Amino acid sequence: MSYYQQHRSEFVEGLRAFLRIPSVSTLPEHSSDVRRAAEFVREELRTAGMSFAELIEGKGHPLVYAEWMNAPGKPTILFYGHYDVQPADPLEEWKSPPFEPEIRGQDIFARGSSDDKGQTYIQIKAVEGLLKSTGKLPVNVKFLIEGEEETGGEHIEEYVRTRPPRLKADAAVICDTEMFAPGLPTICIGLRGIVYGELVVEGANHDLHSGVYGGAAPNPIQAIAQILCALKDSNGHISIPGFYDRVIPPDPQEREAWARLPFDETEYTQKEMGAAELVGEPEVPLFERVWARPTLEVHGIRGGFTGEGAKTVIPARAVAKVSTRLVADQRPEEAAQQLKNAVKAACPRGVRAEFRVIHSAAPSLTNPDNRFIHAAAQAMNQVFGKETVFIRSGGSIPIVGVFDQYLGIPSVMMGFGLPDDNLHAPNEKFHLPNFFRGIESVALYLEMLGR
Ligand code: BES
Ligand code: MN
Repeated sequence: MSYYQQHRSEFVEGLRAFLRIPSVSTLPEHSSDVRRAAEFVREELRTAGMSFAELIEGKGHPLVYAEWMNAPGKPTILFYGHYDVQPADPLEEWKSPPFEPEIRGQDIFARGSSDDKGQTYIQIKAVEGLLKSTGKLPVNVKFLIEGEEETGGEHIEEYVRTRPPRLKADAAVICDTEMFAPGLPTICIGLRGIVYGELVVEGANHDLHSGVYGGAAPNPIQAIAQILCALKDSNGHISIPGFYDRVIPPDPQEREAWARLPFDETEYTQKEMGAAELVGEPEVPLFERVWARPTLEVHGIRGGFTGEGAKTVIPARAVAKVSTRLVADQRPEEAAQQLKNAVKAACPRGVRAEFRVIHSAAPSLTNPDNRFIHAAAQAMNQVFGKETVFIRSGGSIPIVGVFDQYLGIPSVMMGFGLPDDNLHAPNEKFHLPNFFRGIESVALYLEMLGR
């Protein structure tokens, strides 16, 4: 029996301890928990046998850095992951508390189990297994684990932008994406970027009685609705001038590969999403809509009266949280400017409207034709006993574009989450067989790279 098979229950116990730390990066009341999670990762990396592991302080939550550089002449892999998690609300929807990990069947339920503590832990345990069973690693290894991924924090980007010599590597390896289907090993080669911000609309300088002033007073919430409708039409096509100019359509080969993926649209719609039907650009195939086309979504509207009962008021101010996901080769600064201009152009009489950016990230698209991705596919083929598929994802991992731009290295995205893992939602889970196979895949991958 291999080291990995022998130590499964210890791996699960370690993961449980990690999951018990409520490292919600966006909530200030959790900042000491976030730090505790960073320290936990640092200790794990030390125990794993890395030459050293330390926190890198800066604005925001700390980075964790570790390295083992004793394989001269061999390539250097930079592992990336994040130890922060999304908020757990709505709490009443969880079957077991979000920070008290519970195993039901073959799944471990907790916030962050799949995104991304479970997957970050895969990388650490893979390296630990090699070090403990052979005393060395087949390649040079560095870790850079952050605590602000879920908030679009700037710390890691500022750090990487200075191109610190210690980050020199041949490829980054990221476990923070999903498998296309259970049992189907998957490498993600494209992610969407994002511009996230607030649409702030102001009308009168104070709230007004809607009977006395209705018919004459401007209404900021009505204005938000009008502006949003002007930005995206009822077919899901974004109406912002120039927005699609840089969008690269997938080439025919990639389209054909997507069409061959095992997929049941009814199950996706009704079971996975729990929706009545799919929407979006009618002439664009589904995978292209979610992987290779930009989006514009509203996440929340604040303003006026939203309590129980009734209050007749025309609010003075309203705010909508709005994001747009970007695809290659769109640029965040340009897209943000186009969006701002479109908001101004669509702003109705009597109110002032402004879009303020909160965070942004570039899209990424990697050419899979390199030895680091080939070896990853081979390793996963072997561990899962199935041919690895290449997909894109609609989500964003800001660091991928940053590594590409400032370190000039490709990111290998070996993902072990499942489509029904409930990322960012109640009852997030991680499928334990994927946890174990993920550890073995990453370890085998490092061995293959060292040959
Ligand atoms: N791991 C996810 C992104 C992801 C999810 C990739 C599913 C592929 C498949 C990541 O942690 C995430 O949620 N990112 C945020 C980034 C944003 C806040 C900048 C996202 O996509 O909303
Ligand atoms: Mn996430």
